[in-house]
Amino acid sequence: MNSLINKQVVLGVTGGIAAYKSAELVRHLQKIGARVRVIMTPAAQEFITPLTLQALSGHPVHTELLDPQAEAAMGHIELARWADLILIAPASANFIARLCHGEGDDLLTTVCLASHCQIAVAPAMNQAMWKQTGTQENIAQLQARGVKIIGPAQGYQACGDSGPGRMEEPDILAKQAATLFDSGLLAGKKVVITAGPTREALDPVRYISNHSSGKMGYALATAAMEAGAETILISGPVNLSLPDRVEVVSVVSAQDMLAAALEAVEGADVFIAAAAVADYRPQHNADKKIKKTADDITIALTKNPDIVATIAALTNRPFTVGFAAETHNLENYARKKLLDKNLDLIIANDVSDKSIGFNSDDNQVTLVSPKQVESLPLMSKVSLAKCLIEYISTHLIA
Ligand code: PMT
Repeated sequence: MNSLINKQVVLGVTGGIAAYKSAELVRHLQKIGARVRVIMTPAAQEFITPLTLQALSGHPVHTELLDPQAEAAMGHIELARWADLILIAPASANFIARLCHGEGDDLLTTVCLASHCQIAVAPAMNQAMWKQTGTQENIAQLQARGVKIIGPAQGYQACGDSGPGRMEEPDILAKQAATLFDSGLLAGKKVVITAGPTREALDPVRYISNHSSGKMGYALATAAMEAGAETILISGPVNLSLPDRVEVVSVVSAQDMLAAALEAVEGADVFIAAAAVADYRPQHNADKKIKKTADDITIALTKNPDIVATIAALTNRPFTVGFAAETHNLENYARKKLLDKNLDLIIANDVSDKSIGFNSDDNQVTLVSPKQVESLPLMSKVSLAKCLIEYISTHLIA
């Protein structure tokens, strides 16, 4: 779909004459929305300077595995978690062999080992090196492990040869990178997602709410759209840009969210409740601002409808997924919610940890279904959303 909006790309540059094209590649990736960080191997720095790629990407280029300064800021593990895609372009024959053998003796190979995101490789080498059995076997092994190989293109080579081995052109590479997020796994399906907080009015200027930013639900909506689903996002009040090609229904209160969900869920295959819905609302919503007279006031609250449980109770209900925001005893509380709300799957996150859960860019979750419990590693909400959509699509078919 040619868009990398909100996607974080680590561009790995290895040693080869095509490294000069990486500068243009940074621009093309940014043009279609990506945030880019660059890692260069020592050999890459013989062909193009880190300064060029720093100026273009707007960030220091990462070059050393054992660099105390870099580790204090964004070290190899942070880079690995940050990435939604690692794109290695150009990828030399030597780098491909080292990636294939699981080596971790420099920054780029280590980040690849430590990451759970999609890895894509754009080979660039002499045509004879490309045709070598060793290289072809390495490429086949990487493909079998899910690494995407983009190119190489055919044509004139810097060494004077002609044949396969030229790095794919930067504009084509950027477009191909964007299509890696388009899985088609939910093509023909309809997915409804709730996101963000709800606000429960006390009077015209005050409300009860929570710290949900909507990032998790918005990432899920983008991932569902990229998987080919017709996607409706029912959003509480948040400060995020609207996702592309997603129908957004804006709501304020839990009651509004329930009404919107009941309408949207007609004919839906999947319902995902990522919103942090206020469990209670003030019994009275005053017409006029409540004046500050008494020293203490008591606010009577009444229970809000449970949106995800209401959807799960429908006849012909969609595959219904809830989230469980817990501060302790994660799996047990999640399992109780799974059963009480009659869900197909619940995604438990520990919201006591400020680096995950509410308002963070990362999350770490445990998937609890009636038959299975599976913990996923810490990753960005964008990468997690992609994993969750993949998981849901396989369980929809099963
Ligand atoms: O928005 P972010 O800042 O990115 O943060 C993400 C998140 C932490 C909000 C998200 O990952 C999350 O955990 N969402 C659910 C928060 C929550 O309300 O959890 P809960 O355990 O209170 O509710 C369980 C489930 O019931 C949730 O799916 C919730 O959407 C749903 N629910 C709850 C109450 C209610 N009245 N109606 C509901 O549908």
